[in-house]
Amino acid sequence: MPDLLHEVSIGNVRLASNLFLAPLAGYTDKVYRSICLENGAALAYTEMVSCEGVARKSEKTVVLMERGEGERNLAVQLFMPDADTARRSLEGVMAYRPAIIDINSGCPVPKVIKTGAGSALLKKPGVIGEIVKAIVENVDVPVTIKIRTGWDTESINYLKTAEEAFNAGAAALCMHARTRSQLYMPYAHWELLKDLKAHFPEKTIIGSGDLFSAQDGVRMLGETGIDAVAYARGAIGNPFIFRQTEDLLSGREARVISTEEKVRAIRVHLAGLVEYLGENTACREMRKHVCAYLKGIPNSARVRQSVTSALTVEEYEAALSQLK
Ligand SMILES: Cc1cc2nc3c(=O)[nH]c(=O)nc-3n(C[C@H](O)[C@H](O)[C@H](O)COP(=O)(O)O)c2cc1C
Repeated sequence: MPDLLHEVSIGNVRLASNLFLAPLAGYTDKVYRSICLENGAALAYTEMVSCEGVARKSEKTVVLMERGEGERNLAVQLFMPDADTARRSLEGVMAYRPAIIDINSGCPVPKVIKTGAGSALLKKPGVIGEIVKAIVENVDVPVTIKIRTGWDTESINYLKTAEEAFNAGAAALCMHARTRSQLYMPYAHWELLKDLKAHFPEKTIIGSGDLFSAQDGVRMLGETGIDAVAYARGAIGNPFIFRQTEDLLSGREARVISTEEKVRAIRVHLAGLVEYLGENTACREMRKHVCAYLKGIPNSARVRQSVTSALTVEEYEAALSQLK
């Protein structure tokens, strides 16, 4: 299966492999992106960043675009309701020197949809084309887009959306193979990824949806013919999923990650967050990550319970020592 693992180019950006970290609000901050990149992700998207917030120079917004340690190709994901809002943000966005700009056309959260952004754009493929064009015309980096299959099962329109995006100059397209109405359940429709690739064989298509293990990534690449996979929930608490996928695609067994390695990763992650956010906020932020890292580890329930109130690195260390 070695041919399923390969380099990918997005515009002028050459990426070492086709295994990516998807954008995940609340998770893919610069610290976790760096960890995933170090563990074999070829590209890692930021959390979604509000164009309106960038245009208003909101400190809380622009900080999301800071480059992580060792992050060569910063891929900033933006959300906006229209081309004008995108245009107004670009000076602020480009100040962070992204290698790729991605457009969010899949977020299902009511607060975002209400403004006309995220998956609300799926109802207006023409506006998607306008947004892509506005960004392409004003920056010198590749512009990509992340969509869902449609708003609901009655309005599946990914081919139309993709056509608008590509005609306007999108360099690649990632599809989460669910509608907005499906949110994150039940299963993703990978057959629609296959159909999308069949319609746009020359374009770079990235797949998302139900990639919970390295085996899932291999299967999606094999079954759909798409160019790259973007791990989302499967990468939460599991930055090892990229190397495990590489293993499988290179004909090896997927490496088994020991509890010690997971604990080491937790320490690195927490230390990075402490440097980024300060100890108190980092310890709060880290709780959800730790619970994900420890999933499936025998006797870890007590540790997870302890970290729900941990506010210092020392308390984390005390909690983790219960694993030994
Ligand atoms: C907590 C969470 C946050 C997410 N944040 C974003 C986001 O900021 N931008 C985006 O395009 N997709 C976002 N997504 C969607 C994921 O990138 C991905 O497409 C989706 O989870 C499907 O993949 P999965 O089934 O393998 O998790 C998010 C998903 C989750 C669960």
